[in-house]
Parts: sequence; C-alpha cells; structure tokens
Amino acid sequence: MLEHKDHFHGSDLEKIEVAMGIKKEEIVSFSANVNPLGLSEELKSFLSERLDVITSYPDREYTKLRKAIGNYIHCDPEHIIVGNGATELISLFLGALKPKKALLIGPTYSEYEREISLSGGIVHYYFTKEEQNFQLDMADFLLEAKKDYDLVILCNPNNPTSTTLTRKELSLLLSELDRQNCCLMVDETYVEFVEDEASVSAVSLVNEFDNLMVLRGTSKFFAAPGLRLGYGITGSSRILSLIKEYKNPWTINSIAELAGCFLFQDQTFMKATRELMEKERDFVLRELSAIKGLTVFPTTCNFVLVKIEKEGKDADMLFEYCIKKKMMIRNCSSFPTLDNRYFRICFMKHEDNLALIKAIKEAMN
Ligand SMILES: Cc1ncc(COP(=O)(O)O)c(C=O)c1O
Repeated sequence: MLEHKDHFHGSDLEKIEVAMGIKKEEIVSFSANVNPLGLSEELKSFLSERLDVITSYPDREYTKLRKAIGNYIHCDPEHIIVGNGATELISLFLGALKPKKALLIGPTYSEYEREISLSGGIVHYYFTKEEQNFQLDMADFLLEAKKDYDLVILCNPNNPTSTTLTRKELSLLLSELDRQNCCLMVDETYVEFVEDEASVSAVSLVNEFDNLMVLRGTSKFFAAPGLRLGYGITGSSRILSLIKEYKNPWTINSIAELAGCFLFQDQTFMKATRELMEKERDFVLRELSAIKGLTVFPTTCNFVLVKIEKEGKDADMLFEYCIKKKMMIRNCSSFPTLDNRYFRICFMKHEDNLALIKAIKEAMN
C-alpha cells in the first residue's frame, strides 16, 4: 500500500518513480494541468537551430520578449515584467510588497500562503462553499475584503476548483479595494484555457487600476513547465520598480527568452489547443458525470474537481488504482477544506482520457 500521507503534486513524478518503481516517462500526468499537445515541431526546430544563444547573456531588459508578450495580450510592454515562471513573480511580488495581512480565496494554490508567511505576513482565508460549486459570492466576500487587509489574492480560474470570476466582477472588486488602499494579485496561470478569455482576464484592467498585479506563465497552456517563463502585468510604476529592486538580473535564460518570442505568436498551436480542450472537456465531463458515486464540479478550463460520494471509496484508493496503470491523478486532500474524497484531473489526449475514464469506472465498482 502506498504511503499517501505525503501528497504527490503534479510535478512529483520523481517521488512516484521511487515509491512505485514506475519510470516517470511512462506516467501520464493528469495532475500537472499541462497542455497534452507538448511543444510544436516548429518550435523545436526553431530552437535547435539557435542553440548558440546560450553563449550570450540574455537582454537584461528583455525588450523583444516583453514586446512579444505585449502583442499577445494587447498590453503596453512597459507594464510587463518577466520572471522565472509565475513562481518567481509570486515570490518577488509578495517579497517586495510585504503584505501585513492578506486575504486569500480558498481552497486554492498553496504557494501564496507560503510566500506571505515567509515575508512575515498573516494570511486569512475566505473559503468558498461547496453548495455553491465553490463559486465566489462576491457580495458576501466584499464584506470580508472591506476589513483591514492590504492585499487580496485570487487565482482565476482557480486551482483546484476551476471556478472563474468575470472581468466585470474583478473590476467591481478592484474599485472597492482601491478605496481602502488594498492591492489585488490575480494569478491567471490557466486563463488561456477559458473559451471566452477576454471576459475573464484582468489584463486590460491594469490601464484603469494601479492596485492590480496580474501573473501568467507558459508552463500550462504552452506546455513548457521546464522552460520556466512567466510574466507579470501591472499599471503601477511603484510596484514595478519595487519588484525590479528585488529581482536578480537574467533569471530568464536565453533559450526561454527566444522560445517566448516564438510561442506568443504561434496561432496554429493556440487554435489546436483550444479545439482539443473543448472536445476533451466535453467528453470527459460527460463520461465522469455518468459514473455513479461521483460529483463533478463545473469547469471552463483544462481541469476538473471531482468528489467521490460512494461509501468505501476515496481518492487515496483511486490514486493507487490509477498509478498502477501509470496514470497520475491529483488527490486534493492537501487543500484546506477538501479531504480525501476529492480529486482533480486535467484533460489530456483522447486515448489517455479514455484509459483514465475506464480505470475510474473500474475503481468505483
Ligand atoms: C495556480 C498556479 N499558479 C502558478 C503555478 C506555477 O506556475 P509556473 O510554472 O509558471 O511557475 C502553478 C503550478 O501548478 C499553479 O497551479
């Protein structure tokens, strides 16, 4: 029996390799939330012909890269800062801002709490309710947010609940927070998977509000977690210069700098990803909803949260059943308010989704 007390994250394939004796290359990760299309052949040959960039330092200002991102998200490159994944920017932003008291909407990604605690701040959670499909009740949340917080953080779409807030709701929230000198950090790591991205993304709001920091990356949508390329967008020159004070130079290497310039204009890849996701999301949701004993929460992005309601079955058992078949799901019991009845899976290629659905059906019987 697998000791599941330490939870396996989406990137913990090495731990699985040791614990289960399965080669990590053979595991299909339904837990990492990474686009299953992988890198395009065009990107691979573009990079392989230019490997010599390693012999030079990247541009300290990353001017070309920021311009490519600016074109991609329709935003002034002066409002953009690049980082070593969204992770470096979460850390830099929170380290620079040093919030005394931050409000997080839970259950959510654990890095925010860790970073705030490291910089000496206090974290409070506002937990969304399962009865409301974990969707935020904005009116009720505003009552809490009006208290003496100096930072609110939200993940949109949220990991692991996949709930989203609209740009309109974010605008309302920003106006309220602005009045009390409170900043908002929005992690948009998964936003490109949402069909109507423009109605959800906060990026265009940086022109209206200077208490806003939006973070994004290339790990999930562009299938490049090993590249370590993320970016932040803010209209606040104060926040930008604070972050720049803390930031080490050249944390994005020359390959990531180059790859970024290619990725952000690769319309073919973006279109193929959106088509695959739409199809597979519909397919997996339909199949999962038909399995007795499962509650499938709504999703608009590339992953879904599921609750096991059947007596005698739980996510520990399901994890073990699936990993033996070289498929890794995310047991969600490490998220506050969730327990080992909840698991999360992302949508992969059709044949992999078929295999996982089959395994879940067997395990639930
Ligand atoms: C919500 C969220 N933000 C940020 C990250 C990390 O992103 P990056 O690889 O760009 O550092 C993850 C990774 O799982 C995530 O789920």
